[in-house]
Amino acid sequence: MFANLKPQISRILSNQQFAINARLQQVCELLKENVAHYDWVGFYFVNENKTELKLESYAGEPTDHTIIPFGKGICGQVALSNQNFVVPDVQAQDNYIACSITVKSEIVIPLFLNGKNIGQIDIDSNSPDPFTKEDERFLEFVNRQVAEIL
Ligand code: SME
Repeated sequence: MFANLKPQISRILSNQQFAINARLQQVCELLKENVAHYDWVGFYFVNENKTELKLESYAGEPTDHTIIPFGKGICGQVALSNQNFVVPDVQAQDNYIACSITVKSEIVIPLFLNGKNIGQIDIDSNSPDPFTKEDERFLEFVNRQVAEIL
C-alpha cells in the first residue's frame, strides 16, 4: 500500500500548477482516502517566528485546534522533542489535545528543513493501536518529499 502511494505523493508535490498549500491538501486527501487507519491527516507548521504551530492543510473533520503552542498536546511536544511520537491509546496520555471523541490513536512525525524542525504531519485514527514502524518510515518519506518543495 505505502509502496503504491509513494510515486503518487511525489507526483502531487512536484506539480507546480498548484500552490504549495493546495499540493499539501491533496497529499492529506490521498492519505486519508487510501490508508484505512488514517481518519484525519494534517500538516502543522511553525507559525512565523512564534513558539506555536499553525494548521496549514488537512483532510477530515474541521478542528478547533488550528493553533497549538509548543509543548501542548502531542503536536506541541513533537515541536520541542524533534522525535516521532506514536500514541497507541490517546486516553493514556496526560498531555493530549482531543479533537474528536472518535479518535483512539495518533502519530506525529516532525518535518525537517535543512535540519530544522519546521512542522509536522499529524494523523489521527479511530482504530486502537494501528501504527507500525512502516507508518513511521512512510511518513518520514512524505515529510522529506514535502521539505524538497519548501
Ligand atoms: N491531538 C493533537 C491535536 C491536534 S488534533 O489531533 C487535529 C495533540 O494532542 O496535539
